[in-house]
Amino acid sequence: MKLDLVPISKNIAVKSFDCGNGILNEYLKLYSRKNDTERIGRTFLALDEDGTVAGYITLSNAQVERNKLPEALKLPRYPIPALRIGKLAVDKTMQGKGLGSWLLFKSFEQVMRIAELSAVYVMIVDAIDSNAGNFYLKYGFVPLQDSELSLFLPVKTIAAEFYDKLFDE
Ligand SMILES: CC(C)(COP(=O)(O)OP(=O)(O)OC[C@H]1O[C@@H](n2cnc3c(N)ncnc32)[C@H](O)[C@@H]1OP(=O)(O)O)[C@@H](O)C(=O)NCCC(=O)NCCS
Repeated sequence: MKLDLVPISKNIAVKSFDCGNGILNEYLKLYSRKNDTERIGRTFLALDEDGTVAGYITLSNAQVERNKLPEALKLPRYPIPALRIGKLAVDKTMQGKGLGSWLLFKSFEQVMRIAELSAVYVMIVDAIDSNAGNFYLKYGFVPLQDSELSLFLPVKTIAAEFYDKLFDE
């Protein structure tokens, strides 16, 4: 199936979106556009061939406290630049067809672009529950210290492991 990723706008109806998680549905319908306009979180919609919203991601710049990352990374003692996947969700009718991974890879493309202009060391994500956490673990995300549901993946790892799967259109 051909999908397009487009910035959220008032011309695209999101009312019927249902990923099965009330918090993620509500965010899209009630808060995503305002936060996008205010530059709190940028939301991108995956549209199917009919223009229906099949999924979405919300991304924001962030930072991670140094002590939440492994000592072995030998990082400086100040907060580390990050990009947060604040939201990632797929409509129930589209789950299990590769769209979640497509959206994750689109997030990887965005971080690679951003990191060209301003350093980003890690992508981070706050998984909504352990089931969602398992999705990110599958792609190599690692829990931050003292947290099971907040996970990170270094941008260097994304470049090394996934670059050949990005920017394919
Ligand atoms: C979790 C979610 C994003 C996955 O999207 P999806 O489109 O169903 O997943 P995909 O079809 O792209 O799956 C890609 C791969 O991840 C695996 N996968 C999907 N969901 C998974 C999960 N919860 N745990 C572990 N693996 C998972 C699939 O089996 C598939 O593996 P394969 O490539 O080896 O076949 C989607 O189910 C969803 O939106 N759920 C509700 C909201 C939510 O939990 N969002 C998470 C953000 S916090």
